Amino acid sequence: MLDPVRWITFEGAVLSAPPAAGVNPFPGKLRLIDQTKLPSELVYVETDDIEEVSDFIRRLVVRGAPAIGCAAALGLAAVAQHSVASSSSEFIGGVEVAAERIAVSRPTAVNLFWALDRCLAALKSKTDAPVDELKIVLLREALSIVDEDIAMCRAIGEHGAELLRDGMGVLTHCNAGALATSGLGTALAPVYTATENGLNIRVFSDETRPLLQGSRLTAWELMNAGVDVVVICDSMAAAVMREGKVDVVIVGADRIAANGDTANKIGTYGLAVLARRHGIPFHVAAPVSTFDISIPDGNGIPIEERVSDEIVRGFGIPTAPVGVGVYNPAFDVTPADLVTSFITDVGLVDPPYPEKLSEVTGH
Ligand code: MRU
Repeated sequence: MLDPVRWITFEGAVLSAPPAAGVNPFPGKLRLIDQTKLPSELVYVETDDIEEVSDFIRRLVVRGAPAIGCAAALGLAAVAQHSVASSSSEFIGGVEVAAERIAVSRPTAVNLFWALDRCLAALKSKTDAPVDELKIVLLREALSIVDEDIAMCRAIGEHGAELLRDGMGVLTHCNAGALATSGLGTALAPVYTATENGLNIRVFSDETRPLLQGSRLTAWELMNAGVDVVVICDSMAAAVMREGKVDVVIVGADRIAANGDTANKIGTYGLAVLARRHGIPFHVAAPVSTFDISIPDGNGIPIEERVSDEIVRGFGIPTAPVGVGVYNPAFDVTPADLVTSFITDVGLVDPPYPEKLSEVTGH
C-alpha cells in the first residue's frame, strides 16, 4: 500500500544494450500523471518535447518541489535523446539551451535548478565522451535523481514519524505527498510511515486556495492509501486548532534560505503564526536539496506570481467581477523562528538556526 507510487518515470529506457549505428540508444519519454485533472480523472501524459516539458511544469501538470526537479531531469534526458549533434561540445551546448528553457518555467522551487545543474555537471565531467555515451550519462543522472528522491522521502518519513503518536491530528497545507515527489512525499512521509507502523493518524488537509492542491491532491492520495483525511477550508485552520483537533502541523517547502526562512505554498506563514498562538509544533519537512544556502534569508527567495484567472475564474467559474484587481503570489515565506524543527532526510534539525542547519547543509 505504501510503496512509492511510480507515477513519474522515464518510459522505454534501455541502458544496457549498446546502440547500433544510427539507432537512438534509448527511445523513451517522460511519463507522469496530469495533476490538473485530479481528482476526477487519472490521466497519464508523455513527452519528449522541450516546450511541453516546460509547459507541464508551468501549468502544474507536475508540481511540488522535488517532483518538478525529477520531471525536469527526466524531461531533459528525453529531449536530449533526439539530438543530432556531431560533437560532445555541440551536444552539451544543446542540452544547456534546453535546460534554460525548462528553468524559466517556475522560479521558486530550488529543486528545479538543483536538478538541472546536476544533469549539466554530469555531462561536463565527461566532455571527452562520444554523443551517444553522453545521452546515457544524462539519463543515468536523471534516473539517479529519481532514485535518490525515493530514498530521501523514506528517510524523512522515518525521522518525522518519531514526532507522531497514536491518535494524533496532523494539519498540512497544499500537497507535499507522493504526488509532489517520486516517493512517499515530504510532509506526508511521516504520516505514511507512522501509518505503516500501525498508528492511527488523522490528517486535516487545508483546501489550499486558489488551486486546491490540498483538497484535490492530498485528500486523493491519502484516501487511496487508506489514511484518515478530513478536508477543511483554509480559513478554518484557526478554529480547528482551538478545538484541540490539531496536535502538530507539518508542511513541505519549496526553498529554504540559509537562516531557515522557508518558502512554501501561500498560506503556510499564516498557519505558522496560528500554530505559535495555539502552542502547536510547526514542522517543515524537506530534503537537503531544498536548502539554498546561497540566499541568506527569506527576503532573497524569488516568489512566483501567477495569473489572476486562478483567483477570479478558478477552474473556469467566475468568482469575482470582471476587471477587478488581483494579487496572486503562489508562495509565502515563514520566518525561521516560527519553525519548531526541520524534518530532513539526514535527521531532525531543531533550533538554534542557522547554526544547526549549517551542520546539515555542510556550510
Ligand atoms: O504550486 P505547487 O503546487 O507546486 O506548490 C507546492 C508546494 O508548495 C509544496 O508544499 C512544496 O513544493 C513541497 S512538495 C514536497
